[in-house]
Amino acid sequence: MIICICKRVSDREIRRLVDEGATSLADIRRETELGTQCGKCACEARRIVRELNEDQ
Ligand code: FES
Repeated sequence: MIICICKRVSDREIRRLVDEGATSLADIRRETELGTQCGKCACEARRIVRELNEDQ
């Protein structure tokens, strides 16, 4: 599922980055530019990153 429509970043991509050590939205943003256009995806993306890190 696409989380960031503007930059075409999927939840799968976020999961991969968390598996590789990303711990924050800033880490995801640095790698993918997620949230750097309209910003509407930021809340959902932050929630996903937090959940994935809790599962680790
Ligand atoms: Fe992510 Fe627009 S949906 S910046």
